[in-house]
This record gives sequence, structure tokens and C-alpha cells, in this order.
Amino acid sequence: MTSSTDSAKQLRYLAGALKAPRILDVADRLADQARDQGWSFEDYLAAVLEREVAARNASGAEIRIRAAGFGTRKTLEDFDYDAQPAIRNQIAALTGGGFLTEARNIVLLGPPGTGKTHLAIGLGIQACRHGYRVLFATATDWVTRLSDAHRQGRLPAELAKLRRYGLIIIDEVGYLPFEQDAANLFFQLVSSRYEHASLILTSNLPFSGWGGVFGDQVVAAAMIDRIVHHADVLTLKGASYRLRNRGIDTLPSIRTTTGDNEN
Ligand SMILES: Nc1ncnc2c1ncn2[C@@H]1O[C@H](COP(=O)(O)OP(=O)(O)OP(=O)(O)O)[C@@H](O)[C@H]1O
Ligand SMILES: [Mg+2]
Repeated sequence: MTSSTDSAKQLRYLAGALKAPRILDVADRLADQARDQGWSFEDYLAAVLEREVAARNASGAEIRIRAAGFGTRKTLEDFDYDAQPAIRNQIAALTGGGFLTEARNIVLLGPPGTGKTHLAIGLGIQACRHGYRVLFATATDWVTRLSDAHRQGRLPAELAKLRRYGLIIIDEVGYLPFEQDAANLFFQLVSSRYEHASLILTSNLPFSGWGGVFGDQVVAAAMIDRIVHHADVLTLKGASYRLRNRGIDTLPSIRTTTGDNEN
């Protein structure tokens, strides 16, 4: 009796010293299970440590999700694939996170409200769960961030810092046109990550419309070339999910949303 109280005390101290308090939550319960089921000492130790590691990974993922700046939390599990059946298999293939180890990119193209941002965030959350650091921002916010760094003479340092993120998400390429400077800044961001770390981009425009947005056809072409060299391009189609069940079938028709995105 005394010795088990001593062991409990010692365990409490040791778990505290290791900053692994969850060991205390599971040690007793798993010890009972181990006795019942005749586990080896090694099996028991592995089971206890596994619980701690799983809990640490989960809280690490939560920290990475909060640091990523997603704005709203959208998951791949919440996505209604019946609304976009054509990309179901492509998304399923991406959930394992293999694209991140291979530094591949993902481009989500399609008209407003078809789920581009939702999927980009969902894939970003998945990346956080796989242990990658992620940063999410709109294209406009990225331009501001990069121009600030450029103005202060620290663009190379900023790009080096961003390379430490396994995934960068650039949402809404195409809604607002950029200055010529922005095209150069984006080009540098894309080249600094090329074959090194992943990007996810979303756009309502087909690639043929990007030159107009960046105000420079040559830079846009060189950028697209690098982005799509190792990329999955997912084309979303149809009416806006936002307008579903609202009795509004279509948004004003504009050239850029005819769904003729090439890929
Ligand atoms: N297939 C879907 N299943 C569940 N929710 C969806 C689906 N498609 C879109 N939504 C929801 O509809 C809203 C609009 O989607 P989202 O913001 O991803 O569209 P978008 O393609 O990024 O549009 P925009 O081009 O206007 O930015 C969001 O709340 C999103 O969660
Ligand atoms: Mg969006």
C-alpha cells in the first residue's frame, strides 16, 4: 500500500519534471488494462508514451491552426462533395499530405462561392495536423506584407523566413488587380518556394486572366510555369454555394466565371 502511494507520488513528480502531465491520466488505467490483458512491460510503456505523443501532436496541431490565420475554420470533413463531385477523388488523394513532402502546389480555380477558400483552409488545417506550419492570407495581404519587407530592405530575409513554412496559402488571386511591383514580388515568392515548399492558390480567373491581374504577361507566365510544374489544379464548377436555396440561380455573368479554366 505504502509502496504504491510512493510510486504514485514519484510518478506525479516525474510526469511534472517531463512536462508530460497526461501520463498521470492514463498510467493507472493502462496499468489495469495491462494486468488484465497480460501486456509486456514494453507494451505498457509504449501505450503510455503513445497517449502522451498523440496528445502533444493534437495540441501542436491546434497551435499551428491558430497561428495560420485562417479567419474561419473550415474542414474537408465539412465539405459537401455532392456539390462538387468532379473533385472528390482529387481531394481524397490530397488529404494524406503527400503533396507537402513533395513540395507540390495546389491551385483551386472556379467562380465565386464554389468552395475554393473552404477547400484551401481545409487542406491547410490538414497540413497543420500533419505537423506543417501554415500561413494563410489573401493575395492583397501577401502583397502588402512583401512590399513592406521590400521597402525596409528585408525581402530576402522575409522570403527565407517564409520558406520555413511548409505551406503558404494565397487566397483570391484575381479579385483585385495588382501594381507592377506586386507581380515582381509574387514572382519572387513563387520562385523562392519552387521545388522547396508548397503553395495553395485560389482564383476566380483562369490562368489566361492572370496576366491582366498582375499587369505583366511575361512575369505572370513565368510564375504560372513554376506554380503548375508540380501542381494539382482543381477546377470547381457551378453555382455559388452561398446562393443555394435562396432562389437565385446565377450571379451576373462575367467573362471570367464561365468555368472555362484551362488546366
Ligand atoms: N461544397 C460545399 N460544402 C459545404 N460548404 C460549402 C461548399 N461550397 C461552399 N461552401 C460554403 O459556402 C461559402 C462560400 O464558399 P467559399 O468561401 O469557399 O467560396 P469561394 O469559392 O472561395 O468564393 P469566392 O470566390 O467568392 O471567394 C462558405 O461558407 C463555404 O464554407
Ligand atoms: Mg474565397
